[in-house]
Amino acid sequence: MCGIVGYVGPKSTVDVLLSGLRRLEYRGYDSAGISVITGTGLETRKKAGKLDNLIAEITAHPLAPANIGIGHTRWATHGAPTDGNAHPHLGGTREKLSLIHNGIIENFSELKAELLTDGTRFASDTDSEVAAHLIAREYDKSGDLVLAFRNVVNRLHGAFTILVVHEDQPDVVLAARRNAPLVIGLGDGENFLGSDVAAFVEHTKRAISVGQDEIVILRSNSVEVIGFDGSPVTSEEFTVDWDAAAASKGGWPSFMAKEIADQPQAVADTLMGRIDSDGQVRIAELESFTADEIKNIDRIVIVACGTAAYVGDVIKYGIEKWSRIPVQVELSHEFRYRDPVVTKNTLIVAISQSGETMDTLMATRYARELGAKVLAICNTQGATLPRESDATIYTHAGPEVAVASTKALVAQITAGYLLGLYLAEVRGATPVRELHRLGRELLKVPALVSDVIENLVQVRELGNDLANAKSVLFLGRNVGFPVAMEGALKLKELAYIHAEGFAAGELKHGPIALIEEGQPVIVIVPSLRDSDSLHPKVISNIQEIRARGAKVIAIAEEGDTEVGQWSEHVIFVPQTEQLFAAILTVIPLQAFAMALAEAKGLDVDQPRNLAKSVTVE
Ligand code: F6R
Repeated sequence: MCGIVGYVGPKSTVDVLLSGLRRLEYRGYDSAGISVITGTGLETRKKAGKLDNLIAEITAHPLAPANIGIGHTRWATHGAPTDGNAHPHLGGTREKLSLIHNGIIENFSELKAELLTDGTRFASDTDSEVAAHLIAREYDKSGDLVLAFRNVVNRLHGAFTILVVHEDQPDVVLAARRNAPLVIGLGDGENFLGSDVAAFVEHTKRAISVGQDEIVILRSNSVEVIGFDGSPVTSEEFTVDWDAAAASKGGWPSFMAKEIADQPQAVADTLMGRIDSDGQVRIAELESFTADEIKNIDRIVIVACGTAAYVGDVIKYGIEKWSRIPVQVELSHEFRYRDPVVTKNTLIVAISQSGETMDTLMATRYARELGAKVLAICNTQGATLPRESDATIYTHAGPEVAVASTKALVAQITAGYLLGLYLAEVRGATPVRELHRLGRELLKVPALVSDVIENLVQVRELGNDLANAKSVLFLGRNVGFPVAMEGALKLKELAYIHAEGFAAGELKHGPIALIEEGQPVIVIVPSLRDSDSLHPKVISNIQEIRARGAKVIAIAEEGDTEVGQWSEHVIFVPQTEQLFAAILTVIPLQAFAMALAEAKGLDVDQPRNLAKSVTVE
């Protein structure tokens, strides 16, 4: 889950690498480093801690101008986050080769033993350094860097993206990819490599996504892609639709604050072109599925992790209700290793912002082996998940940099509801008039999201007031239940406070024992308007916890005149369809977790121990 960047071209290589690392820092921030080849040879700077530490090191010990280099930001797997374990790692006794690595080399112990027998001395505890020495040794034998690189990557097991430069070949960066992401950026007289397009989008929007077991030979005026077996590979270019400015803070105090504010746009862009003025959903990306294939689906299994899995729990309500297809939501890592029942009529819906979450990739690969079709809901072009899926509905949330997911989540729920409405219409499961009415209502949601965001002052104050809370509980029913779990996850990851989300109906079956005097409980209250509303039941749940001393903060719909009598605070969100309310009620919970973390003086963009893309299992 490290971030990787490579560059060959006339620009200041140090600047290109550092700005690329800044955009990839969300992938890991335990340490960072770069290597460049200057007029006098290979030079490396690396430092434990966040990127700013590396920048301070380079300011103290500047690097000479260079036209080629590689850079890395690390999320530690093998070896503690120290200066020595930071990448790049140098290979060979004369240290002319520099290597960066994202992933895990599973057979590193046996390779290291082989090198130790040879007398190789190691400067770090990492698995990555093994690859650096092996390639340097092979190169010393043959003098052919591509051959040496190819021979070694063929010997590695596990997951890796590896980039290498060598002082004797100062015009080329070599890269290899297996089970870890790598994208090429095509420039004019310059070329780039990155873990994702964010690494180079400020320089070029032309990109190629590198496939499994492929090697890239990158020069300023040429890009060659070959397989691990040396055979040529034809790759398809695509245009990146992310705006470079979208990946900068743009005056906001944090990426998270900006991304919360981006949410109306994220929902609007995900809807754009997918619902006509009558309310009919059209998803061009699903045209690869025939009407018969859609009618034959007998079960949907949603696989995802973390916030994306809670999205699955939300959209399940709508997809089942409208399309009448049974939906099951599974954590990817649990699904993959439990011998699930999957047939050719099972549709797997894999939800992932990054498209690189290894658990989700493994689950989808497994499902395809079992004969199922995979539909991805993904935010990142050029990522592995869309490449390995039968179709992809892209969420157009733009780059999400803060580690905690916000705008990707609302875009994923939007895409999931589009999917549900589309399937329902193709299968004739709900009257078209009702589906189109829902489609028209969905088009109104971006404006409602704006209203929620403009009224978050009260939530921020609450965050300050509760900064010393030891634990916060979240309750909800129906789509409010996964929203409650998401609220708890946000609080844990950002403010390091114990938090749990429960189904409000489950309370009396155990969790109510947790309630004691002053316990803050945030309750997602459903609309009062619907005839089949769960509102009275949730009010009863509130009364039960109030009677035991809970301090209740309710998230309720405007016009709810009852809830205020039973709650210390009520945060109102605009009226919408019962199922769409999840998109609105989750936003105060994001803002609450952010405010509480800020009140505790924590880094909301880069919480401890986390990385945004979890590319290891
Ligand atoms: C929480 C969060 C994570 C991710 C999860 C899946 O705020 O961001 O729980 O949702 O790691 O990531 P993707 O969507 O990239 O597969």
